[in-house]
Amino acid sequence: MRRPVRIAVTGAAGAISYSLLFKIAAGEMMGKDQPVILQLIELPHAMNALRGVAMELMDCAYPLLHTITLHDNVEDGFKNAHYALLVGAKPRGPGMERSDLLEENAEIFARQGKALNDFANRDVKVLVTGNPANTNALIASRNAPDLSPSQFTCLTRLDHNRAKGILANHCGATTRDIGGIMIWGNHSATQYPDLHQATILGTSAMSQIDTAWYRDEFIPKVQKRGAEIIDARGQSSAASAAQAIVDQMRDWVLGTEPGEIISMGILSDGSYGITKGVYYSFPVRCNYGRYQIVHGIEINEFSRQRMTATEQELLDEKAVVEHLLPKETEESHQNLHICLRSGVTLYADNTGPDSDSRFMTTNRVM
Ligand code: NAD
Ligand code: LMR
Repeated sequence: MRRPVRIAVTGAAGAISYSLLFKIAAGEMMGKDQPVILQLIELPHAMNALRGVAMELMDCAYPLLHTITLHDNVEDGFKNAHYALLVGAKPRGPGMERSDLLEENAEIFARQGKALNDFANRDVKVLVTGNPANTNALIASRNAPDLSPSQFTCLTRLDHNRAKGILANHCGATTRDIGGIMIWGNHSATQYPDLHQATILGTSAMSQIDTAWYRDEFIPKVQKRGAEIIDARGQSSAASAAQAIVDQMRDWVLGTEPGEIISMGILSDGSYGITKGVYYSFPVRCNYGRYQIVHGIEINEFSRQRMTATEQELLDEKAVVEHLLPKETEESHQNLHICLRSGVTLYADNTGPDSDSRFMTTNRVM
């Protein structure tokens, strides 16, 4: 049996976590042979609810669930964490845009970035879900000067999965028949779900769908799916968000299937002409515990306009939170040429993974 890894989750008594934690404990995220320690973090007033969640986790008797610890502050909760899932934040209600949460949630992520910097494992992998996810990831990573910006990501896998599900439903296919979906940009209504590289049963999706349907129905539907769910449920998506978190982390840690492309919100290194220094969703492949942008994709005029619009929104959001972005981390976020992190999961005593590890054990220039 492998040694357990530490997974910190904020907002652990919230709606998303009520699906997420049970999937992690069942081995859906880290693999069926990987024991986990759950470090659950909540606001002080929600600790009693959190105790209830912990009791339920215990009552499931998951063989892979090694330990559960409960924390009312991130400084304790992030200690030695190998993975940090930043879910805890206020969700939007009907009629709001995700960017309306910027003022309220931004401070949370500045503190969490500092706490990750000071207390988490040096190879911690961070996934920000709390909205607005891209800009919150930027705030967290800019407040963590000793970590690489490439250790921070934000959740756009939900948009990727939505695009896949909606396309499959439209074409009478299953999601297994679909490949090459790409989400570009912000997790917001400006995101660009791109089907130009998508395939259905191995043939071009664009040759099998009506262009007007793609432009006038599919794109706005994916962009506004979160709001559609809030209107229907009275609260934001939770189970599908949890599934997307599991999918994104699993692929990052264990690797994507050969040939598979996924979408991940990562720091722009200038690829595809996107301004450096913002967290932007790109098509990526993962291996050795790291992600790599898929290069060489042809971008037509229609795509370029949409990619630029969502980039501009991220730059506008960045301007609003400039006061939370320390100057000392500006340079590291402008020059992400190499990934110095090895992808190796080190333990608190600085020993590495066991010999059957799937991770590479040397640093490598990406
Ligand atoms: P929720 O209100 O049900 O739960 C959030 C929990 O976070 C609450 O229990 C709250 O006490 C806790 N919390 C708030 N601030 C905290 C902090 N500083 N430290 C620790 N815990 C804290 O909300 P939810 O439905 O679970 O959604 C959580 C966030 O995820 C929202 O911002 C929502 O908009 C966002 N979201 C993002 C995506 C995405 O695809 N990126 C998808 C769905 C939801
Ligand atoms: C979603 O996409 O479902 C979440 O970001 C919640 C929201 O506010 O839309």
